[in-house]
Amino acid sequence: MTEHIQYSPDKDALVLLDQRYLPNREEWFECRTTDDICFALVVMVVRGAPAIGVTAAYGCYLAGREVQGMDGDWKANLNAKLDQIEKARPTAVNLRWAVREMRRVWQEAGDVSLDALLTVWLARAREIHEDDIAMCEAIGRFGGALMDDGDTIMTHCNAGALATAGYGTALGVVRGAVDQGKKVSVIANETRPFLQGARLTAYELHKDGIPVKVACDNACALLMKRGLVDKVVVGADRIAANGDAVNKIGTFGVAIMAQRFGIPFYVAAPVYTIDPETPTGDDVPIEDRDPREVTHIGDHRIPPEGVEVYNLAFDPTPNELITGIITEKGVLYPPYTEAIRKLFDK
Ligand code: MRU
Repeated sequence: MTEHIQYSPDKDALVLLDQRYLPNREEWFECRTTDDICFALVVMVVRGAPAIGVTAAYGCYLAGREVQGMDGDWKANLNAKLDQIEKARPTAVNLRWAVREMRRVWQEAGDVSLDALLTVWLARAREIHEDDIAMCEAIGRFGGALMDDGDTIMTHCNAGALATAGYGTALGVVRGAVDQGKKVSVIANETRPFLQGARLTAYELHKDGIPVKVACDNACALLMKRGLVDKVVVGADRIAANGDAVNKIGTFGVAIMAQRFGIPFYVAAPVYTIDPETPTGDDVPIEDRDPREVTHIGDHRIPPEGVEVYNLAFDPTPNELITGIITEKGVLYPPYTEAIRKLFDK
């Protein structure tokens, strides 16, 4: 797949494949300022936890470029812009991680000029970008080994190349299985209301020639009951210290159904998605998004005028429903509090 996050030195811009319009149109969105970056994150030109992190890292660099042209104390101006980026979306820990990482690099660089900081930051953003692809490929190798030839894998939302720098986490597991010579196919849950499954997961798997069928979110139980699902693999926006995994709204329900039908339920995510500062999934801030995403299909309003809706974007899946957490360092199994503690002690 085309790289959907590209830093262009010629344009001095971060160029993003605009995911709002996929699969119908491949349009590119250019970010030059902090406001552009925050807009792209909030309206989901770019989305998916690791892709958000990579975008935020380049965003810090672009914020520095913007500050170069501003009056006043550059350090204070820059810090205010970093705060703005960090707050763009609350749930994916990767956003906070990326901004903190850039602050750490700044601190480590000491009393440097803004020009010198920008050189170091651009290099670090590029490294974060490249590392993400390598981490996804490692997740794919570990996860691919857990899949069996002939499996049909259900996934929810899009945890694919479009949600990362490339290759994907949950879809990285699918790609890993394919790379290991296994014939697997995917059921992509539609994933209301932004339709990451119907639009994005279907788009990228179809493009790669991996068999994919889209199902309504509410078909899950019947498909499982009919024996049409062998494994579930999903991504995560944040994994708490006890292994509870927060992912796209609806994931919790899929996990409950998978347990009901004895289907293995895996979460695939890089280690930095695990947040040891957050004790349980219930402690993770859940993004409450624009109601219009639920009320409208295109310009057409579905519920009667005046009726309110919920648009909570994520839910925590309790650790006891998770068969394994597939990371780039290997697969974690219950009890997760212990497995995660050991991982971080290393
Ligand atoms: O609101 P989104 O589209 O950013 O939500 C994305 C998800 O929930 C993904 O499953 C998660 O970020 C993992 S991406 C590898």
